[in-house]
Amino acid sequence: MQFRLNGGDRKCKVSPRTLLVDVLRDECGTTSVHIGCDEGICGACTIFLNGESVKSCLVLAVQAEGKDVETLEGTGSVKELDVVQQAFGEEFALQCGFCTPGMVVSARALLKNNPNPTDQEIRAAMVGNLCRCTGYQNILKAVKKAAERLQSG
Ligand code: FES
Ligand code: FES
Repeated sequence: MQFRLNGGDRKCKVSPRTLLVDVLRDECGTTSVHIGCDEGICGACTIFLNGESVKSCLVLAVQAEGKDVETLEGTGSVKELDVVQQAFGEEFALQCGFCTPGMVVSARALLKNNPNPTDQEIRAAMVGNLCRCTGYQNILKAVKKAAERLQSG
């Protein structure tokens, strides 16, 4: 299969039943994509597929043929965090980091479609991402802060 990953062309051999999450982790080294539940519940494997956020444990690798895949590795850098990453750090919205990449992707997906979400809309958008460490209040605050920063440019 061939697809684009974080802006670069990728080619790999997969079986028809291989999951996209396994290709991303094992073949492509994009290990920000985590496997928490492997059944679409935890959100740790959330990525963008052609600009839409999806849980990559629910997508067959071949479904990404010819498409654009974006993982957290395609966002910001250690020296220059993107606005959502920055807000997560400032609001202490992360601890172990297992869930955080998926949270950041889901938050970015929300803000792309709804730049000024209400608390309820943030909660609804993040409901598919589970975190056992922080509680959700700081995650909510971080998404609000990122939204405010994006609003103010
Ligand atoms: S590993 Fe995909 S949703 Fe949990
Ligand atoms: S920071 Fe999310 S599970 Fe720990």
